[in-house]
Amino acid sequence: MQIVEKIPEAIALRQELRDTVGFVPTMGYLHEGHLSLVKQARMDNSTVIVSIYVNPTQFGPREDFGAYPRKLDRDLKLLNKEGVDIVLVPSDDEMYPPGFSSWINVEKLTERLEGAARPGHFRGVATVVAKLFNIVQPSRAYFGQKDAQQIMVIKRMVADLNMDVEIVVVPTVRETDGLAMSSRNIYLSPEERRAATILFKALSLAQQLWKSGDKDADELRKRMTSLIQKEPLAQIDYVSIAGAETLEELNLIDCPALASLAVRIGKTRLIDNMPLG
Ligand code: PAJ
Repeated sequence: MQIVEKIPEAIALRQELRDTVGFVPTMGYLHEGHLSLVKQARMDNSTVIVSIYVNPTQFGPREDFGAYPRKLDRDLKLLNKEGVDIVLVPSDDEMYPPGFSSWINVEKLTERLEGAARPGHFRGVATVVAKLFNIVQPSRAYFGQKDAQQIMVIKRMVADLNMDVEIVVVPTVRETDGLAMSSRNIYLSPEERRAATILFKALSLAQQLWKSGDKDADELRKRMTSLIQKEPLAQIDYVSIAGAETLEELNLIDCPALASLAVRIGKTRLIDNMPLG
């Protein structure tokens, strides 16, 4: 496994590769969710490239960029075990040198949900992913369903800017009690960790109501909200039942929909989602 810090070196290495290249962008502190993307990439491609980069431009000024967990040695061992070929670990200086001033702004989709709650977040995500795609030139890139809106933004960018890469979506990996794996789960105290299962419970409730024929989106949002409100450590940021194509809030669930939510457990903000249909 080759570890590459310099962007020109990564570009030179890529130019020597002929067959398919699978790419998994990450911010590190890897867990089984990340590794399921890596395993899928390993099955599908001749070469697998993973990036580890905590991208400062996708964090807001009052968010957790400084505190975001980092453990490069452990990450590299895990990736080596999965048979990864190249790990790209760029520095901030190389990714955003002095004078950097080009940004990718995906409109509309980013005005909702995570985009509304975290202004500028998707501008940072789209820009860094576009840069990484330009460096790695992947045949396929792997993203987790866990971040459903991120996938939609990346797919929109790839289509709009004619990027020659296939976006592969991998299902959300969960703990046995349903909590979606996340690098941020490390912030939770034992009591908060127990309370955090409320996200999965609320999504499961929505799915169950929908499966039993309830098509009233407002009813689903209300039932999810009142369930979460019973958990004293939980504070709702948003609860959404939206069209899976547009992310616009629905009245009647008459098309493929996405149940999603963002909830603060103590100081930790967690997100999760479940497709309906
Ligand atoms: P990060 O949060 O490290 O996630 C990297 C990838 O792993 C994303 O595609 C995310 O959806 C996926 N992932 C995280 N938890 C998962 C889980 N429990 N099950 C399945 N997949 C999961 O997302 C980012 O980094 C950044 O925004 C990035 C795309 C790297 C750009 O900086």
